[in-house]
Amino acid sequence: MQSNAIQRNPTHPNPIIMKIHLQTPEDIRPQIWKELGRASLGRHHEWRTPVLASVDPDGLPDARTVVLRQVDALAGQLTFYTDSRSPKVAQLQVQGAAVLVFWSARLSWQLRVQVTCSVITSGPEVEALWQGVKQSAAAGDYLSPLPPGAVLPPGTGMAVAANANAPAPTHNFAVLRAQVLQMDWLELSRDGHRRAQLGATTWEWLTP
Ligand SMILES: Cc1cc2nc3c(=O)[nH]c(=O)nc-3n(C[C@H](O)[C@H](O)[C@H](O)COP(=O)(O)O)c2cc1C
Repeated sequence: MQSNAIQRNPTHPNPIIMKIHLQTPEDIRPQIWKELGRASLGRHHEWRTPVLASVDPDGLPDARTVVLRQVDALAGQLTFYTDSRSPKVAQLQVQGAAVLVFWSARLSWQLRVQVTCSVITSGPEVEALWQGVKQSAAAGDYLSPLPPGAVLPPGTGMAVAANANAPAPTHNFAVLRAQVLQMDWLELSRDGHRRAQLGATTWEWLTP
């Protein structure tokens, strides 16, 4: 069986799409982290926008799309940005256990990552990252006067536009750090699907 990781090879008939034949855990694990790293840097990588599933205080599931911003393979950490007032932050502050789900059609890889999340709402790291974010088009996401999910008065429509002249509020930018505990890797392939469970130092092949 062959892995579906893709590499550029100028001598291949199609220089963009060539499958690497990853066979062993020693090859596949670093490739997973490499793809995560690429996703944090490249807007068009399918793993850039995973789904983050959490549990609300009533024990009910919740999930949403987030953008993968930083990857630290050595520390086993994935970083996201969010609004500190968003419901997910309150959920994760009560129950840090969460799952991230990534799918890439290009790789034919699904990655389900069990994580423990911590939310950093202030301090030097938040302020340093905010200096960059506040120059970007996304700055407004963290400056809205109302928290994400707040119900708007009927007929308000473009509430953000209506508030355009309001004095600049303080930002609500926060960093969401996910410590990876375990990964479930699934590769779909015509040659036979493959699945494995990865701990920090362990690898178990599973029935797909
Ligand atoms: C493509 C895409 C990317 C998103 N990225 C983020 C993100 O990085 N951080 C974030 O807090 N919300 C992001 N959102 C919005 C969330 O999916 C969600 O709607 C919002 O954060 C409120 O979620 P909550 O009510 O569960 O807190 C994104 C939505 C989409 C569609």
